[in-house]
Amino acid sequence: MRDQNEYLYFLRRAFDGMPGALEDLGDDVGNVRPPLPGANSGYVIAYHCVGVADYWIGHIVAGREVDRDRAAEFAATGSAHELRRKADALFERLATDLESVTPTALPRNTPPAGFEGPDRPLSVQGVQLHVLEEKWHRPGPRVLPAWVADMDFPTPPVVVAALREAVDRRDLGYPDWPDGGPLRRAFARRMMDRYAWAAPADRVREQTDLIQCLQLILHLATSAGDAVAVQTPNYPPFLATLATMNRRAVPIPMHDSADGWCMDLAALDTAVAGSGCKALVLVLVNPHNPTGRVLPRAELEEIAAIARRHDLLVISDEIHAELVYEPHRHIPFASLSPDAAGRTVTLTSGTKAFNLAAIRCAVTHYGPDRLLALRDAQPPDLYGAVSPLSVVATEAAWREGDAWQRDLGLGEPPVERVLGEGDVLFDGGSPFGPDADGFLRLNFATSHAVLEDILAGLVRALRPGLNPGG
Ligand SMILES: Cc1ncc(COP(=O)(O)O)c(C=O)c1O
Repeated sequence: MRDQNEYLYFLRRAFDGMPGALEDLGDDVGNVRPPLPGANSGYVIAYHCVGVADYWIGHIVAGREVDRDRAAEFAATGSAHELRRKADALFERLATDLESVTPTALPRNTPPAGFEGPDRPLSVQGVQLHVLEEKWHRPGPRVLPAWVADMDFPTPPVVVAALREAVDRRDLGYPDWPDGGPLRRAFARRMMDRYAWAAPADRVREQTDLIQCLQLILHLATSAGDAVAVQTPNYPPFLATLATMNRRAVPIPMHDSADGWCMDLAALDTAVAGSGCKALVLVLVNPHNPTGRVLPRAELEEIAAIARRHDLLVISDEIHAELVYEPHRHIPFASLSPDAAGRTVTLTSGTKAFNLAAIRCAVTHYGPDRLLALRDAQPPDLYGAVSPLSVVATEAAWREGDAWQRDLGLGEPPVERVLGEGDVLFDGGSPFGPDADGFLRLNFATSHAVLEDILAGLVRALRPGLNPGG
């Protein structure tokens, strides 16, 4: 729709076409409700559409008072001729309504609470604007996007309701959080409820995202040139962070074994003990991105023993903890023992598990006293503060979002190959670290139908004969 005239052209056609179809049917037939459950007569459908146009254009868009009885529309009967006269009069009025508004301005009235728009989640609901731009637009019209870590599922309604309620209360002043803000207690509650980990709320600080949390901890705890052990492959911005902060990445490879993707613990032990490259810090991503490995207790305990022997600071990214499939169980690293608790900084947020990346809100739980003291000794606003609305959204997700969450039911570099041959964009390959070249990372947070198409594209790209070396 390029302008109001074009809009009016289509409205005119609808307002002519519906009574026209009814006239062709004749009033007897047009007023009969077909014997199907929930079916409406032709007259009801056309009459309702006229009511919808009056309400949405006249009232919501242009701010005019509209006296509408929506329920009565579904019981209406009448003649096609009368309806045409009603539609003609309304058309003139709507044309005048539209003259009074600026196309780019916000509507004058707010749609009623509970209106969620047509069932086209990718174009109208909450995060879909972001998904539409970031995920679905980037690869182009013919290519299915299975790369960036956003889900295709709409924002949990409980989060939308909580945000809407805060906005409706006009609650957009400065937050008054003398004891640090509600997210700290919300995090502590969540850890206790899900993992029986008694994380003290007063050790929690808020940041906008996990990358910021990681950079802040590295800034406080290490200096340029220090070695940081990190699983490889890894989430590319983490590897890039080490490079831009001049920290020396000590790769700890993940090995594909009969038991799944395992961390090379011998490599970790050697790396932190080696005289030339003694690492001070381990960045532990658990569940691991991109292999998906959920580290079992025995492996975590071995890592904790290595950390204790070499006095490592452990930065544990647990952002995917709530997206773990049965029979696996996430175990927060800091919950392993008092020693682990004292040397671990835990990073997480509600953004992955509830598809809320746009809210910009994450938490850091400080185990080491010294680091927390260093953090608090900084000017309070140096690292910014999270938006109260992002706190509202995270709290709502953690408090009321569980039901929504439960309902969620290669010669050539593989990313390029599957893009070229299968029209699907995956993530993966060398940006994830030295051993990741031959691998793809599939974001399967989508509907069954889209996943089927993604897998069909993958099979198309990888079917035997296409790539003799693959
Ligand atoms: C393991 C891991 N950590 C952190 C992030 C990013 O988190 P944030 O957007 O809060 O920086 C991602 C995003 O995909 C991730 O996979």
